Amino acid sequence: MPHIEIISASIRTGRQSHRVALFFKKFLEERKLATANILDLKAYNFPLFDERLAHQPNPIPSAKEFSEKIKGANAVIIVTPEYNGGYPASLKNVVDLLYNEWRRKPIAIAACSDGPFGGTQVVTSLQFSLWKIGALTVPARFHAASVQLAYDEQGNPNPKDKELIEKLAAGFVGELLRYVPNS
Ligand SMILES: Cc1cc2nc3c(=O)[nH]c(=O)nc-3n(C[C@H](O)[C@H](O)[C@H](O)COP(=O)(O)O)c2cc1C
Repeated sequence: MPHIEIISASIRTGRQSHRVALFFKKFLEERKLATANILDLKAYNFPLFDERLAHQPNPIPSAKEFSEKIKGANAVIIVTPEYNGGYPASLKNVVDLLYNEWRRKPIAIAACSDGPFGGTQVVTSLQFSLWKIGALTVPARFHAASVQLAYDEQGNPNPKDKELIEKLAAGFVGELLRYVPNS
């Protein structure tokens, strides 16, 4: 079974998009689509980027562990909020930290917002940075609109939206897995 690392990018106090990371972990595991783990950037609390990991003489253990997790993943789902039309500094911090780990890594973007558009504007800038670094960003996208209402704190979709959310998630994950060899 493939292994997917889910990056939960928001480190904001009172964050809501982490619910979507929890949703995907459960979704992947319950449907036996992949094993899954959440890389929570709030928990990692990385220092602000000062050099790429491979060039650091004494990297912190958590950065090395993060690198190993990305290296070992068959695919990555990035759950990101949209801040002022872009992606958060916490995410750029880890994109720049690694290099080879990202190369040819199948990555799908799940964008979140508290409004009706589900972070449609964040995709372009993130897609561009990931393309620049050599990742394989897949065309599938997932948009979590009104994220604070659509999911509870454990990542369960609101019963009203559940069927649609799960249908969209199945398409999103299915497309990502098509880019994972032998899955
Ligand atoms: C600094 C900041 C900028 C934001 N900019 C946008 C935006 O450009 N578009 C949007 O739809 N929502 C925007 N929002 C609202 C976020 O979509 C909302 O706060 C969402 O819950 C963010 O995810 P988070 O709670 O996990 O941080 C912004 C929120 C913050 C804190």
